Amino acid sequence: MERDLLLEGGGNFLKDYFKKYFEKYNLKFNKGMEMCAGKGYIGFYLLEKGYFETMDFVDINPDACEYLEDTIKKRNLQNKCRVYQSDCFDNKNIETNYDNIVVNPPNCPNEWYFYESEETKISVPPLIYVDKDWQFHKKFIKESPNYAKSLVMAECIVSSHTSTFEPMLTDTQKIKDVKMFLFSPAQEHNFLPLSSYLFTLENDIR
Ligand SMILES: C[S@@+](CC[C@H](N)C(=O)[O-])C[C@H]1O[C@@H](n2cnc3c(N)ncnc32)[C@H](O)[C@@H]1O
Repeated sequence: MERDLLLEGGGNFLKDYFKKYFEKYNLKFNKGMEMCAGKGYIGFYLLEKGYFETMDFVDINPDACEYLEDTIKKRNLQNKCRVYQSDCFDNKNIETNYDNIVVNPPNCPNEWYFYESEETKISVPPLIYVDKDWQFHKKFIKESPNYAKSLVMAECIVSSHTSTFEPMLTDTQKIKDVKMFLFSPAQEHNFLPLSSYLFTLENDIR
């Protein structure tokens, strides 16, 4: 149970919103990565639906990586998918020529956002949702031009706005195609009534 909770970050419902986003903006890529992959719901789904030719997965949690390896074997995707255990891009084996990275990272800059009740406090482990003072986001956005031409990022309207990330951009990066997806997973997932927005971050030069 504990292991499963550490791997559930909302991708099971967010994957449909990623698909809608990819449809809306006519996105299709060859080489893809899901950063902060967890169980890889988003990456496997977009690969299966033909929005990517290949999909690699990165997560800091070794249990997530084990789960991803198992899924790749079960689905016979060894020729299309690889897994890297890594804190952001730190693993030196990560390749540097991705066309696009999809990511649903930990979305809150502190633990307060999920401390509405004892129940949410217990049921959502911080590794899933806390990015203390946006440290991961700062590093990920800064280093991403060395790895990918663009990113499609899911964030949470309760804890951020695109203006939160604008100060992190260099002058070769820009945010575009911001799309709000309003939904209330609370009934299903016992989370706060979250709503997400997705946007593209373009890395203009590599
Ligand atoms: C919001 S969950 C998303 C999981 C999955 N993509 C989904 O949508 O269900 C965030 C994920 O980021 C991973 N993570 C947290 N910090 C990380 C870091 N520094 N580098 C890589 N992955 C990280 C966590 O282990 C967790 O799997």
